[in-house]
Amino acid sequence: MPSIVVVGTQWGDEGKGKIVHLLGKEADMIVRYQGGPNAGHTVVFDDKLFVLHLIPAGILIPKKICIIANGVVVDPLALHEEVKLLEERKIKVEGRLFISELAHLILPYHKILDVAKEESKKGETKIGTTRKGIGPAYADKVERVGIRLADYLEEDTFKELLEQNLKLKKEYLGSPSQIEELKNQILTQASSLRPFLKKFACDSSLDLNLALKKGKKIIFESAQGTMLDIDFGTYPYVTSSNPIAGAVGSDCGIGPNKIGSVLGIVKAYTTRVGEGPFPTELEDEVGKKLREVGKEFGATTGRPRRCGWFDALVVQRSVSVNGIEKLALTKLDVLQGMYPLKVCIAYEHHGRILKHFPNSRKVLQESKPIYKTLNGFGEIGKSVRRFKDLPLPAQKYVRFLEKISGAKISFVSLGRSRDETIRISKTSLWN
Ligand code: GDP
Ligand code: IMO
Ligand code: MG
Repeated sequence: MPSIVVVGTQWGDEGKGKIVHLLGKEADMIVRYQGGPNAGHTVVFDDKLFVLHLIPAGILIPKKICIIANGVVVDPLALHEEVKLLEERKIKVEGRLFISELAHLILPYHKILDVAKEESKKGETKIGTTRKGIGPAYADKVERVGIRLADYLEEDTFKELLEQNLKLKKEYLGSPSQIEELKNQILTQASSLRPFLKKFACDSSLDLNLALKKGKKIIFESAQGTMLDIDFGTYPYVTSSNPIAGAVGSDCGIGPNKIGSVLGIVKAYTTRVGEGPFPTELEDEVGKKLREVGKEFGATTGRPRRCGWFDALVVQRSVSVNGIEKLALTKLDVLQGMYPLKVCIAYEHHGRILKHFPNSRKVLQESKPIYKTLNGFGEIGKSVRRFKDLPLPAQKYVRFLEKISGAKISFVSLGRSRDETIRISKTSLWN
């Protein structure tokens, strides 16, 4: 089946954008299946830097068709802004981007609610969301009061649903006159954005199934990483959707038998933005060095990312829940000149050795990493494109990560642009 799911294996920011940009050359379509403008996928080429939030990274490759599927929550204002920025930079979007009519929308009150809920929480219960309205929009979807693109495009339907929603959320939105003002503001925005959104609306499930029937090559791009998955992540410090590969079926309206292979993206160390447990976090000079050398600052919020050693329990869980057979290892170059290197191979919890990622939030919070120490490596030449040309200790580090993760490392990324990559396996991912 010619389709690949590209999924993050850690807490996001693994380099999904770069790898989709690399593999996208071989694809016909690139699809975002979950998440929303909380994502920040960076793509660097020809000395230009793009950060994509809602739109698949494939938009940066001429002529590719991109789809935002029904599982995504779309903020019309954020989308308008993103399209405008891309077109200003000579990237053609119209005629190449299509959005599912079934996608739920993020409206201004979702962002107000996201901020209000975060600010009302204290200490340990704060999630550290991106404040883009993600949680409240998905909550509306599940509560069956959400507004979809199809509803937004019908003026009367939208007005009726908007009034219903503002009533339901009135306690968070201020006085009756403030709510009336908010309503009028949203209606005015909708009138001006409706013609713009109409140009992109489609039945993406129908289109994808047709494309699959014709043998088109499709990449499904996750927005977040597996550890932020609402089911398999570090709940409640997660996002409100399922980045895992299995979600592609329901998030795109295709059968599970249409997924060909799953490629996991994994950083050579670990980072996390926002609150929540992170057993291998380094709050010392080594963590600081990883942040500085790896330029670990949020692509969406600019927040400094928390940094730590590679955690094999995290990646093993990801390999298992996503059905990952192949991995793309990114940012190996960031570890140049760091001596020694450490990899977490188990946790210790009150004297007990844990070999699997624990489900109890208490156990996870109290777990301490057990490390294997590996030799560091020196400079990797700028022109290195073959695995055997990496310094020997770097080869050993990669082989160790492969063995402990339980999936083949098919790509090793050594820099931001797509040509700074070693392709190890010659077998095609499109099988
Ligand atoms: P995403 O959200 O998974 O797409 O990842 P982000 O774009 O948020 O973060 C990854 C960052 O690392 C971006 O700034 C990329 O340009 C950069 N990056 C990706 N791969 C590599 C690599 O192999 N080496 C280095 N040094 N940077 C990389
Ligand atoms: P990319 O695409 C890293 C995190 C937030 C917060 C939690 C919930 O760049 O990999 P939300 O706004 O989704 O309700 O926030 O999820 N988060 C991310 N962390 N990279 C991302 O996306 C993220 N998207 C959400 O920091 O902890
Ligand atoms: Mg990111």
